[in-house]
Amino acid sequence: MKQVVTCQEMKFCDSYTIERMGVPSCVLMERAALKVVEELEKRFAGENKKQKILCVCGSGNNGGDGVAIARILHQHDCQSTIYLAGNPDHRTEEMRRQCQIAANYQVPVVNNLHSEEYTTIVDAIFGVGLTREIKGEYRNLIAELNEMPGWKVAVDLPSGVDGDTGAELGIAFHADLTVTFAFRKAGLCLYPGRKLAGQVVVADVGIYREDGAEPKLFSMEKSDLRELPEKEADGNKGTFGKILAVAGSSGMCGAAFLSASGAFATGAGMVKIVTPEENRIPLQTMLPEAMISCTDDLEKDFDWCDVLVIGPGIGMTVKAADKVQFFLKKAKQEKKPVVLDADGLNLLAENPKWKNYLDSHVILTPHMGEMSRLTGKSIRELKSDRAGAARALAAETGAVCVLKDACTVTAAPDGRAWISLSGNAGMATAGSGDVLSGVLAGIQAMYPETPVEEKDTGFYAALGVLLHGAGGDQAAMRKGMAGMKAGDIACGVAEILKEQ
Ligand code: APR
Repeated sequence: MKQVVTCQEMKFCDSYTIERMGVPSCVLMERAALKVVEELEKRFAGENKKQKILCVCGSGNNGGDGVAIARILHQHDCQSTIYLAGNPDHRTEEMRRQCQIAANYQVPVVNNLHSEEYTTIVDAIFGVGLTREIKGEYRNLIAELNEMPGWKVAVDLPSGVDGDTGAELGIAFHADLTVTFAFRKAGLCLYPGRKLAGQVVVADVGIYREDGAEPKLFSMEKSDLRELPEKEADGNKGTFGKILAVAGSSGMCGAAFLSASGAFATGAGMVKIVTPEENRIPLQTMLPEAMISCTDDLEKDFDWCDVLVIGPGIGMTVKAADKVQFFLKKAKQEKKPVVLDADGLNLLAENPKWKNYLDSHVILTPHMGEMSRLTGKSIRELKSDRAGAARALAAETGAVCVLKDACTVTAAPDGRAWISLSGNAGMATAGSGDVLSGVLAGIQAMYPETPVEEKDTGFYAALGVLLHGAGGDQAAMRKGMAGMKAGDIACGVAEILKEQ
């Protein structure tokens, strides 16, 4: 798991390194430029002389990076050219210095984008200093760059991407590669910024977080799955977790099946499904490994389990509501971890008083529609700041919030949040969320010896989201994004765990 920063945090780290630690800013800029050149030259594969590179530079320090990149490439025998955008009077001191050095080395400067055809275009117009919608001259410039042929590389952030939210501020550069400095910026993890950035390389330029501030935002990549605990050799089906899935209703037994499949794929020892009688035969046929409970002895089912999943496909009837309320209340009293999903969340939205049953051992898993119902905010507003929305719900309810979307954000009530970098568009398929609910419960059950107060439910949930996404990536590799179904994600999860 790696730290992710906001633009403000990055600026703070920058000035801390320069002002408090005394590293001159031109040293940092030189390191940054060298790192970008290193990435470019990997692709040039020794053919520097053939490369025609246009470095398009703004008037801030991102522009200064661009000018330094052009100069180093020039010294490395590439045909590099600088295009200077914006008002010269607005140039920062660093930018002016870089322009002077480049002039000393006689790096060519053009004022026409089309003087020749370039093999590579480097975007150094705006980085973390972008503060508002892009208009006028800059807008036309970025539109033109996007139309031009060539390999597109962004310095730190593609110009136009909001480094905090990933939003496109009017227009944005479409990069194939983004070399970002010191930390991945939040806007590179969240859509559309994540897509606009292309491949992302995080380059060490000598800026670290040494101010003692606790990091609060993290990205989760497939390699982070090594954090999952191993199955104890002397364990048994009881110690690997007994999961109760309160799921399914008339015509919705698939949701129960998929949730239970997600839990089994994650290694749960036993799964019992609490569901209406009519679902018994289909479920026993599809998943004979699961136990089925169709009685009204909810007390007994509750006592049996270690972890609960409440909600997949249960519907919005009074009976369903009674069950949800019973299990939520009981889980809070007895401190058992809960995953509250789907109609469980819709019922919570209709019964706001149930928020009293939530605590840090409950994981809420809303998609954007459910989140909108829970918070009263529009989907558009939620999408404009996914991490902020997930954090706000976690802070308000005291529960963990897994805000599901193309890039899912998990937020803990203490303010920590994790953005998963696994997963793909093929996972936008019916039942995918049901599988996730089971995976999340399966992960909570992986820590049988840890007392519930010591469980880091937020982090386990983030691991579950990562695992579910990795399972989806595995399924996409096997079946293709178009053809994969939710059940394939559960199989993918089991395959991923086999690799660990
Ligand atoms: N339209 C026009 N100008 C804008 C806009 C906009 N929408 N938004 C910001 N600016 C202007 C600012 O007023 C400022 O002059 O752009 C300049 C800031 O651009 P940056 O270069 O992104 O910011 P700066 O803080 O100077 O440099 C940060 O430097 O450390 C490097 O690349 C690294 O991203 C980092 C960058």
